[in-house]
Amino acid sequence: MVLSAAGIRFPIWAQAGTSVAGAGRLLLGVDYYPDQTPEALWEEDSRMMAEVGFTNVRIAEFAWALMEPAEGKFDFAWLRRAVEILHKHNISVILGTPSAAPPPWLMVRYPDVVEVNAQGERLHPGGRRFTCPTNQVYRRLSLSIANAMAREFADTTGVIGWQIDNELTLSSSQRCYCNFCQAGFQAWLRSKYGSLDNLNKSWGTVFWSQTYTDFSQIPVPLPSGGDPNPGLALDYDRYQSYANVSFQEEQLVMLRKTCPHHFVTTNNVGLPLDTIDLRSLYEKLDFVAFDNYPGFFEMLLHQEANGPISPDTIPANIALGHDFARSIKGGKPFMIMEEQSGKAGQRTFSPQPEKGQVRLWTHQAVAHGAMGVNYFRWDTATFGAEEYWHGILNHDRSKSPGYVEIKQAVGELKALGPEVLNSNYAADAALVFDYDCSWAVKIQPGHHALSYMAQVTSWYGAISASHTGIDVIAPGADLAPYKIVFAPVVYVLSEAQASKIKSFVQGGGMFVTNFRLGVKTESSQIVRTPLPGPLRDVMGVTVADYVPIYSAKQGVKFSSAFAGPDGQCGIWADILQPSGAEVLGSYTSGEHAGEAAITMNSFGKGKAVYIGADLDAGSLSRVLRTLSATSGVKQPFDVPPGVELTVRKSGDKQWIFLLNHTSVAQTVSIPKPLTDLLTKEAYSGTIELRGYGVRVLS
Ligand code: GAL
Repeated sequence: MVLSAAGIRFPIWAQAGTSVAGAGRLLLGVDYYPDQTPEALWEEDSRMMAEVGFTNVRIAEFAWALMEPAEGKFDFAWLRRAVEILHKHNISVILGTPSAAPPPWLMVRYPDVVEVNAQGERLHPGGRRFTCPTNQVYRRLSLSIANAMAREFADTTGVIGWQIDNELTLSSSQRCYCNFCQAGFQAWLRSKYGSLDNLNKSWGTVFWSQTYTDFSQIPVPLPSGGDPNPGLALDYDRYQSYANVSFQEEQLVMLRKTCPHHFVTTNNVGLPLDTIDLRSLYEKLDFVAFDNYPGFFEMLLHQEANGPISPDTIPANIALGHDFARSIKGGKPFMIMEEQSGKAGQRTFSPQPEKGQVRLWTHQAVAHGAMGVNYFRWDTATFGAEEYWHGILNHDRSKSPGYVEIKQAVGELKALGPEVLNSNYAADAALVFDYDCSWAVKIQPGHHALSYMAQVTSWYGAISASHTGIDVIAPGADLAPYKIVFAPVVYVLSEAQASKIKSFVQGGGMFVTNFRLGVKTESSQIVRTPLPGPLRDVMGVTVADYVPIYSAKQGVKFSSAFAGPDGQCGIWADILQPSGAEVLGSYTSGEHAGEAAITMNSFGKGKAVYIGADLDAGSLSRVLRTLSATSGVKQPFDVPPGVELTVRKSGDKQWIFLLNHTSVAQTVSIPKPLTDLLTKEAYSGTIELRGYGVRVLS
């Protein structure tokens, strides 16, 4: 509404039909910091980038202090010189608006723009992403610098698009709880609920004497001697997400008007992190962009687990990030705005990626639907908080080990060409990812170890191991295109979502879900009907009891459908009482021994499967893969463990990507003769992949 009122044209996607930014523009580039590099080196940098084959850079997203050295005094002369030198070498420019890191003069003059964290402490300037998303002064100043940039570069040859801000999802505290956010929250609630009566009823504020008689009385969920009202807390997550989206949209409205020929996107941290609803964030942007750091991610997981993690974890987690990125805009190709090129980290850092991995990660992104890849970063800074985030050039400007691979990968993607890069991704299966469920589980996990994100990632890992394409969809999405829909921990379920699931199953689909199904309404109140609430008829069961597990040992005995050893039940058991559903697994211990743990119900032409137990990884994988096979989804052919297979399609054409995530050579049997488009070699019978090798077959 706001956008159309402002005379905003449709996104480039809508105009171009199949490809972004006009006719299949190649976006194979690098993140560059002329602001941090002596000007005498810009020419050499541009020449060397052109030698790699790069088509573009992204620049200026952290250069506010240089572009606006004092309030309202702009200096773009240096940036223009950089753009011109790059353009001379045929390198186009994506400009970043700099609102992720405000300059010191702004902080001194407007100290109120700083974020307040969940403990009620005000952050301090000196890092980045420390500002409030609601603050009107910060919004005005962010818009003003972005507007000055846009006017300066709207018609500059070589400038092709924009990245708004930088990683809005990256934040140490994730939420702001300042007075401006409180007022913003109250206004948002007024428009959501219309009346206090409605709000009080929706949240159940009669509990602990919280009945509000004026919107100005409503607090934000800061520490308060007891947990906040769950409805208020869930709405606060929704408000904070909205505040970030609307912060971004102010810049978007301006860019659409001032730079109608440029594309506009923003980048984000990989994976479906739940800080901001990315489906709303990208709704009006031209395409999704995100940042992919597999080695850095491995380092973080190692820190969390305090030891090595299983080798298939990283490829599956990265694939989940890609599938989510593609699914955010209904399957449209996305861009990697920052791809790891070397050792990655700040205080601590990952090792140099092994030989072949940088190229492999590039092709993995394309295999899942990327149409462009930018590497982070060109040179390695010798100062600042990211001195140890290694780029394509080392500290001494020699070429890093990633250089040769990146040059090779860029050449290969150019040879594959826009048709492959803009093709579709084939998915018969879907995994539901729901922000409300993630937020509501964080507010009241029921068991300290229950994490929505961990459930989603382990389900994704189990399903993706069968190499069937998976879309990562919103709970209210159209389910009709899929044969099977997986939906773990559907803790919050609206009537509308329940009726979509019902029609999907009725029409012949298979719906697979697990414990904590349909417990809460959208207002975070518990349903007044027996669980699983609105899906009782579809699932053909009633939940007799829900049981968090701490020291007790619980196991699951499977029926022949899932033949295999007994499974372990980890942190949760929903005890199921079938009312028509077939029992496919039962609990083995304690007072619930013999009761149903897994059921399958026939409903209309389809099936609904309830996995009440929190199964160990091996059993979960066996169960989900068996269900996939039953639903009729197929992989083109078998591949050995550690090898990933994906398919992209365009009309009658299809491209099969084989990705070896192991360091050793692998042999894959192929059912028909295929040609590797990267080497032009034809194969029949079998095909070899070297350690971290890639094949694109047609
Ligand atoms: C991204 C961020 C970049 C840079 C990079 C390495 O998260 O967008 O600005 O910080 O990581 O840390």
